[in-house]
Amino acid sequence: MENVKFTQMKDGDKADYDFLTEHEIEHTKGTADRLLKALVELDEGLSGYKITRLGHSLQSATRAWNAGADIDWVVSALLHDIGDIFAPYNHDEYAATILKPFVREQCRWVVEKHGDFQLVYYGEHVGANPNKRDAYAGHEFFNDCAEFCENWDQSSFDPAYETKPIEFFAPMVQQVFAREPYDEMVMNAAPPPLADNTVALSPAA
Ligand SMILES: [Fe+2]
Ligand SMILES: [Fe+2]
Repeated sequence: MENVKFTQMKDGDKADYDFLTEHEIEHTKGTADRLLKALVELDEGLSGYKITRLGHSLQSATRAWNAGADIDWVVSALLHDIGDIFAPYNHDEYAATILKPFVREQCRWVVEKHGDFQLVYYGEHVGANPNKRDAYAGHEFFNDCAEFCENWDQSSFDPAYETKPIEFFAPMVQQVFAREPYDEMVMNAAPPPLADNTVALSPAA
């Protein structure tokens, strides 16, 4: 069988869907490679900063790595802006959706909300509410997101920072996306502090 027999999904039989499931499994094995390729393509987008989007992503991940953060954090930092390619108005949610089946909920939440939290640094200059993050005050991952943005995101536009290449992070991306998707043990893992030597911010009110 090279293709399914049906032209409408409702006409498919078990053999068709077994065949498709096999294909899907093969396809999902390539997720990490596709993400890494997309990250390189980020380089083509969004000019004006002192470094490219890829440079920013690598620098964020490098800072997380240098701070001693675990693999969930490093991969989340690397991919946190990957949504810029197709979802410039909700790039944070887009990246969080990609990460959701494979990382701790703490990291997923932080990636999903980082756009709102970043506004504290520039909202006033673009007519947006800098305090948008206040809507999440009291959330269990509020401080993680504030620290993620302060230490790894807003700070990672520095061409002079010694940033690791994509090859350094590729095995980590492969490892995370080779996990069993929606593994409760991963998703509900107890959230550790952001990183041992990341500058902690004062708790939110
Ligand atoms: Fe972002
Ligand atoms: Fe970013």
